[in-house]
Amino acid sequence: TEPLRIAIAGLGTVGAGVVRLLTGNAELITARAGRPIEIVAVNARERKKDRGVDLTPYRWQDDLGLMAEADDVDVVVELIGGSDGPAIAFARKALKAGKGLVSANKAMIAHHGAELATLAEEAGKPLKFEAAVAGGIPVIKALGGGAAANEISSLFGILNGTCNYILSEMEQKGSNFADVLKEAQALGYAEADPTFDIDGIDAAHKLAILASLAFGTQISFEEVETRGIREIEAVDIERAAALGYRIRLVGETRYDDGRLFQRVHPVLVPVNHPLAKVDGSLNAVVADGNFVGRLTFEGAGAGAGPTASAVVADIIDIARGELQPAFGVPASALAPAAPAHSDAG
Ligand code: NDP
Ligand code: HSE
Repeated sequence: TEPLRIAIAGLGTVGAGVVRLLTGNAELITARAGRPIEIVAVNARERKKDRGVDLTPYRWQDDLGLMAEADDVDVVVELIGGSDGPAIAFARKALKAGKGLVSANKAMIAHHGAELATLAEEAGKPLKFEAAVAGGIPVIKALGGGAAANEISSLFGILNGTCNYILSEMEQKGSNFADVLKEAQALGYAEADPTFDIDGIDAAHKLAILASLAFGTQISFEEVETRGIREIEAVDIERAAALGYRIRLVGETRYDDGRLFQRVHPVLVPVNHPLAKVDGSLNAVVADGNFVGRLTFEGAGAGAGPTASAVVADIIDIARGELQPAFGVPASALAPAAPAHSDAG
């Protein structure tokens, strides 16, 4: 059987994790994909950096533009990050060259998802980004697949592993905000610029993507009301605990009367509420469907292994020949997202 030939751009926490997973579970992945997944080419900024994985079997491709158009590549995997700059240039070029695209880059999808989906549809190629939302939790596949027959009335959840880790560790160990943030960075949870995490922007990127999938609306990241956890102090967490609450950074969205409501903010959650039990770098997503009822997903929201799991799941889907619209419906069929209103209860 013909292998699916992939090129990986970005070999940091996630990229190195993807190489480790594809090589470590090669036999199982080949069986489930129905054919081998072959890494052809790789790229990052620094060729000589030790990434804890053996890259010698693969072509090192310095030029991302040439990688995007390489004749011996079927699918490119973008794991660089950033809404603009090299990631989006690489993604556009690859789709225009008729490659499939897998990305973990929520910033890029939140800003340019519809454009990329249109390019993918024009090329008849897949665009997939399971890893962009809630790390290892297969929530995009669930909304676009298993729950696809449902009208979703609302969705909420914990969408940032770094913030959840900080809030949990501050409460459970009395650690200081700056120290726990450093730990989250060392564990590979945080964004290259961690202000995206602590100011709620990363969670807002993910919420905007989920809202588009859940409601079939255009992505409207600019309209997400966003507040992060920067102002939360140990004393706030202590007082909340004394009253029987935990603080969690929660994203919530619904679509009523043609208007999209999206908000990310710190919430006082009663200790017996399911979201209060989501600790450390875990994420959770709760969605209400009109036939299925309430669906709750929980799992690792960040880190090399869980994120690689989601990236490789997308690659397996492509190897199997699955070709679904990236946002559940063709990009041109996404409904307008009217400006958000702020009177949500
Ligand atoms: P890292 O910062 O660890 O890795 C980024 C990689 O991109 C590095 O290998 C870096 O090269 C490379 N890179 C950066 N700039 C360039 C450039 N201009 N040209 C070529 N390569 C470049 O990030 P992560 O692996 O953590 O994240 C990657 C993506 O995955 C991001 O979009 C992130 O939001 C997303 N993501 C991350 C998760 C996580 O838990 N970490 C979870 C879910 C999604 P070099 O190593 O040489 O510096
Ligand atoms: N920085 C992100 C987080 C990575 O902490 O959730 C996963 O998307």
